Amino acid sequence: MFLRRLSGFGAAVFAIAQAAAASERDLASGERVFRNQCMGCHSIEQGRNRAGPTLHGLFGRVSGTLVGFNFSEPMREAAIEWDQETLDAFLADPETLVPGTRMVFWGLRPDDRRRVVAYLKAVAE
Ligand code: HEC
Repeated sequence: MFLRRLSGFGAAVFAIAQAAAASERDLASGERVFRNQCMGCHSIEQGRNRAGPTLHGLFGRVSGTLVGFNFSEPMREAAIEWDQETLDAFLADPETLVPGTRMVFWGLRPDDRRRVVAYLKAVAE
């Protein structure tokens, strides 16, 4: 009985370790997606805007409100609160979620979206 419980516990620990390893892999590939697809226009450093606004402090921010960046009117009027879901929808097809946005971007595959959003959540929250 004790042994059985112990092995159940071991399996749970193993499962948790696996999940953690997977998410670390996701973060690493998320960073790669960010470097390849976003960094040309976005930094994750506070106060450093490029062609696009910094993504520092992105989670919980309302679209188009970052002071010091000249957003398009559609982005300001959209008033979207950025979280995992809204980011996922935006990155799938910016123009569909925010028609007229100045972010010209072709959209990411679901896997890449999941990874880059996890990365942003980890580094830019
Ligand atoms: C070609 C340049 C360019 C690329 C590449 C790009 N963006 Fe953008 N991004 C912009 C611009 C410009 C805006 C402002 C859009 C507006 O005001 O309509 C923006 C806005 C955003 C916003 C809204 C920020 C806010 O404060 O409301 C998010 C989130 C965002 N981008 C995420 C990303 C992510 C993640 C990637 C990579 C997968 C990416 N962008 C790739 C140019 C770019």
